[in-house]
Amino acid sequence: MLNAHIIGTGAAVPKRVLANEDLEKIVDTSDEWITRRTGIKERRISNKNAKESTTDLGTSAARLALEMADLTPDQLDTIIVATVTADHLFPSAACMVQKELEANNAAAFDLSAGCSGFIYALDQANNSIRLGQSKNILVVGAERLSSVVNWKDRGTCVLLGDGAGAVVLQAKDDPGGILSTHIKSDGRFWDLLHSIEGNEYLPESLCDTAIKPFVLTMEGNRLFKQAVGSMANIAEEALAQNGLTREDVDLVVPHQANLRILQAVADKLNMPMEKFFTNLHKYGNTSSGSIPLALDEAHRDGRINSGDHVLLVSFGAGLTWGAAVMRWTSESHPA
Ligand code: ACO
Repeated sequence: MLNAHIIGTGAAVPKRVLANEDLEKIVDTSDEWITRRTGIKERRISNKNAKESTTDLGTSAARLALEMADLTPDQLDTIIVATVTADHLFPSAACMVQKELEANNAAAFDLSAGCSGFIYALDQANNSIRLGQSKNILVVGAERLSSVVNWKDRGTCVLLGDGAGAVVLQAKDDPGGILSTHIKSDGRFWDLLHSIEGNEYLPESLCDTAIKPFVLTMEGNRLFKQAVGSMANIAEEALAQNGLTREDVDLVVPHQANLRILQAVADKLNMPMEKFFTNLHKYGNTSSGSIPLALDEAHRDGRINSGDHVLLVSFGAGLTWGAAVMRWTSESHPA
């Protein structure tokens, strides 16, 4: 049986930083409230006049991952982009990334699973490698959530940001790599987080942001509770399937939505917060982008090394949730 090994990671974010203090000028909020309730201090917001579209961010992250993997784009046989904010309804973001990379030998498609999109895409990639259908797969999580933010809603606009991350997976005989992936969804709760039509308002300071004709709406309190229970349960299930205990886990790289959600998940799993990698204070919630963006930072910072057990865990619109357990097999690369 072939195993899927991550041999390269990359990430990209827009240049513009929107700090909590900047948001105080847009809605009735405060740095103190946002920090205490979410842990977020700033996020990145793309500029439509810069090369910062979903395709651009995804492509930049992919180039870095390919460089680390020491592969050329034409060696890719599959490209999967997880996103809910592709630049076009069609063609897919994956085909746009393929065009930019000139990865002309790949099949490319998008996957939509809210904030769990990256884990769902990893699941597809892992299965494809294990079945012997693919050898080198690029998996990208890329979002421009600023295009669907309701800048009049202080309950949501403070949470979201733009960014992308990517991994290159390779089929190898060697043990390790992705040990298992786990995905779940429950459409009965679709309305806790969904898009609604109508998006006409941009604050003056963000008038160069590209928007889509719909906005995000959510029930934060109910989502919070669902997120904690689902993430903790699927993490336990994923570890148990691999005969691992929480002590065996070297690092958890979770979806970066809210620090309080992660603290509650850590409590439920009886794991110390030090094992949870977080960068949400810098980027906020970037949906499908958040796990690969964090994974790349953790890898380049030397927080993940060969032989480490890494647990990925996510939750998002759908509702969807998922986990992946890996035994890391590549050395860390300096940032
Ligand atoms: N600034 C100041 N006050 C605010 C803000 C703000 N930005 N937003 C809401 N408030 C006010 C509310 O109006 C309310 O005021 P009231 O008591 O006078 O009515 C008060 O703060 C408390 O509001 P709550 O919604 O109860 O605050 P809560 O502690 O639940 O935090 C939050 C809200 C941060 C949205 C939280 O529920 C949350 O993070 N939920 C998860 C949402 C999420 O992450 N969604 C993303 C997708 S799912 C995922 O990725 C996991």
